[in-house]
Amino acid sequence: MDLVEARSRFPILRERTYLFSGGHSPASSAARKAVQRLTDEWTYEIADLYGRLREEQDAVRGLFADLIGASTDEIAIVESTGMGSNLAVEMIEPRRGANVVFDEWSYPSSIYPWTLPERAHVERRFVPARDGLIEVDDLAEAIDDDTLAVSISHVTQGEGFRQDLGAVAEAAHEHGALLLVDAAQSAGAVQIDVHQQGVDFLAAGACKWLLGASGLAYFYANRRHLESAPPHAAAPGSAGSHHPAHSSAFEPKAGADRLQTGIPNLIGLAASRPGLEMLLAVGMDKVEQHVLDLSGYCVEGLRERGLEVLTPAEPERRGGVVAVVMEDALEAEAFMAERKVDVFGGHTYNSTLRVDPHVFNNRDDLDRFFEVLDEYLS
Ligand SMILES: Cc1ncc(COP(=O)(O)O)c(C=O)c1O
Repeated sequence: MDLVEARSRFPILRERTYLFSGGHSPASSAARKAVQRLTDEWTYEIADLYGRLREEQDAVRGLFADLIGASTDEIAIVESTGMGSNLAVEMIEPRRGANVVFDEWSYPSSIYPWTLPERAHVERRFVPARDGLIEVDDLAEAIDDDTLAVSISHVTQGEGFRQDLGAVAEAAHEHGALLLVDAAQSAGAVQIDVHQQGVDFLAAGACKWLLGASGLAYFYANRRHLESAPPHAAAPGSAGSHHPAHSSAFEPKAGADRLQTGIPNLIGLAASRPGLEMLLAVGMDKVEQHVLDLSGYCVEGLRERGLEVLTPAEPERRGGVVAVVMEDALEAEAFMAERKVDVFGGHTYNSTLRVDPHVFNNRDDLDRFFEVLDEYLS
């Protein structure tokens, strides 16, 4: 699929200039149809659909696996990125005297699981940014033989900074530490190859760059960790074989599907599958190239206007998220929304405006954004 075709599948673009995929991507016509089809099947063919529940789920697991270079059995469908981060932490034995390394921009759901009672004794180390960048050398310096894990966001939500996963994995593995990645702002925007890059665990919600639904997320755990981890939960959905209802025998499935406890989220799966199919049909190499072209064009245009841009200009250090300092960002967001341009006024990071171009956007969208921005600034 080429970029023009991909763009044509997003009805919102005929109405608005949508530049906020880092919050939630809009539904494509394919996603809309898939939800309609699911609703029809639910209405008229539910017995048949019931028989295919797990197949539907496995198909989506397989698509996400293809997208990040994993195997289907290493992927679980969960409800949020944060749940994936929690599951990863749960699989790591919190031995005494240990520490965990974050950078100052690690997302809260990467950090909070380490504050829970069973892990509260684990020392939490935060590596600060230097000149607007998190340097791998600084992370490496914070890692030692007592480090259990390095837990970072691949692309940071507040700045749009992208980590070099391969380099961070190498620094972590040198000391036997694991790499936990929050890919909510990167998966679907830039290429990821978890096996090649040495990622141990990765979580990403479907609704942002993966062009899917909210309330559904993908969790990857490298096979070697699944083999050694205790089961997360015991329920029929996670059981390898079924025993009579009152039997006390429970054997977890061997793969990451042991983390899926019940009947799948069919609506979420139907709504999310077309997004993965589209990204794979375009090809993640082309998606990344396009997203980086757009985010680069955006960074350049903001700098030309004398604004303080937090996102690095170097393509290998950013993804699709572009953040610019703006004290009145919420006002700017509202001003633009009135003119049918959707950006993010930083409801959590109050003094930044975020512009997140994705595969379906083009330079005309950014020119329209700049036109409205100039109007706002004057
Ligand atoms: C880096 C990052 N991680 C996680 C999330 C939230 O994901 P979820 O609600 O699926 O846990 C966000 C949302 O903005 C995010 O930017």
